[in-house]
Amino acid sequence: MFPPGTNLLRALVEMGSEIEAPCGGTGTCGKCRVRVSGAVSDPTKEERALLDPDELRAGIRLACQTAIYGACRVTAPDAHALTAPTILTEGRRQEVALQPNVREVEVAVPAPALDRNPADLEDLLAAMGFSGGGLSMPLPVLRGLSGLLREANFLVRARLVGQEIVDVSSARERRPLLGLAVDIGTTTVVGKLFDLRTGHVVAVASRLNAQRVFGEDVISRIQHASKSARDLQALQERVIAVINEIVVEVCAGRAEPRDVVEVVCAGNTVMTHLAAGVCPQWLAQYPYVPVFVSPLSCRASELGIAIHEFGKVYFLPGIGRFVGGDTVGVILAAGLDMGSSHRLAVDVGTNGEIVSASRDRLLACSTAAGPAFEGAHIAHGMRAANGAIDRVDLVDGEIRCHVLGEGEPSGICGSGLIDAVAVLLRAGLLDPSGRLLGADECPAELAETLRARLTTRGGDRAFLLAGQVAITQRDIREVQLAKGAIAAGTRILMRQLGIRPQQLEEVLLAGAFGNFLRRDNAIRIGLLPPIPVERVSFIGNAACAGAEMALLSTEQRRRAEEIARRVEYVEISAFPEFQDIFAEEMMFPAGEPS
Ligand code: FES
Repeated sequence: MFPPGTNLLRALVEMGSEIEAPCGGTGTCGKCRVRVSGAVSDPTKEERALLDPDELRAGIRLACQTAIYGACRVTAPDAHALTAPTILTEGRRQEVALQPNVREVEVAVPAPALDRNPADLEDLLAAMGFSGGGLSMPLPVLRGLSGLLREANFLVRARLVGQEIVDVSSARERRPLLGLAVDIGTTTVVGKLFDLRTGHVVAVASRLNAQRVFGEDVISRIQHASKSARDLQALQERVIAVINEIVVEVCAGRAEPRDVVEVVCAGNTVMTHLAAGVCPQWLAQYPYVPVFVSPLSCRASELGIAIHEFGKVYFLPGIGRFVGGDTVGVILAAGLDMGSSHRLAVDVGTNGEIVSASRDRLLACSTAAGPAFEGAHIAHGMRAANGAIDRVDLVDGEIRCHVLGEGEPSGICGSGLIDAVAVLLRAGLLDPSGRLLGADECPAELAETLRARLTTRGGDRAFLLAGQVAITQRDIREVQLAKGAIAAGTRILMRQLGIRPQQLEEVLLAGAFGNFLRRDNAIRIGLLPPIPVERVSFIGNAACAGAEMALLSTEQRRRAEEIARRVEYVEISAFPEFQDIFAEEMMFPAGEPS
């Protein structure tokens, strides 16, 4: 039972619904559609703007705009929106020598004798070669130590995480020794389980980040977390619950969650704060200050992560403001700190992170690209899931759309959106300012089949792609904003290093979205600098790959910390020319790059 006046979105979330709410409940995205009957509030002006009269008559409402006043029935008609998207789990990374923070030592502890002055703990430490101190042991482990030593006939195996003995067991009992690398993304969470004796991957699992019901982008999450301690806790519990589900899945049939003794996480600044239960409120307000960027190490139990009871969690350090441990992971995995050439790494997400590397400098920035490429704020936008148009081509003057899952199209995802814009530019239907031409303005030689696709959607010019799915003028503006932000960030970083696009030896595309976009089209619309397409490489989920390296090697962990200190954070919005550069970069290139 909810008190009268309870917001329907909030009620659904509290009941465990996975409803989509990309705008965080501000009534601007129109994605939280539900069918409602019963005692609910009247439609708001936001609903009247986003829903047509037929929908309202049919009981379709925006959950975030609806208050409940008594018994009501709610169904989610937009089932495709809940379809699991393709989650990228693999990333390119450097090989590392296995040297984890987790160790196991098997020792024979000398049996007590009257002619010595023994104590069980000191005997154990001496047998392990640590009689000089430097190791600690949680009190519950100490309490069980004497009994265990005797049961095990003084032949024991101690497990250490860093400098702490987290458990002691009989040497006869050989349990798996596992660690988990986690990429906590704003949209998805990926976990990779490793055998820390061999360094081999044991299992991989991924989930959507359950925090997304509080908004698709980090600002919506911050706003929600800042409302109250309870709301912050809800966000923290949601992401921890996802990590726990991943732990259960990767361990299933192989090991027990208690065999996982360390978790290494890579996340952007907001995700790291929220996973730790630290409110990132001031990050959303000028002058945008996070609570911490240094590496965070704590007990898993403090966060509610259900692994070994004394297991540890390590978060990769951040660089500054919104540029967090995931970017450090990308730099580590791609070796951007070690090369001598001019390279660029771009993670195209709701917050586009960009790193520019030259021989002796590393610069990073974050751009508010917005969630357009995730399908939010796009008329028929959706994630890369079944039913999404993910590729658009112009073949012999006709549009060809590829639909994920090969069924009927129900929307368009980010890669399809970039393709569609590139196709419109090549066909001459879109001018460099981003204006979709009317039927009477199109080039005379335009194929009739293309001209016939020009239509309108809600009074807005649109181009029909497949089925009922169209790209509208407003969608194109959203693409311009997103690509303009990333291109402006790229240009400013390169300017700071004194590099021209032609000097870039490699552009690395990181992240789930980057992996699915087509390089030539990303260059054609100006999202990436005008370089030969073969210089653009995909590095996949490099943030997770960086977390893996830090899990498998303490040396790599130190390197990650050194990277975080070394990278120069650039606040692009503080640049005097930023607005001009952004406005220029919102334009589309006039032609194909030469
Ligand atoms: Fe309801 Fe966006 S309109 S969550």
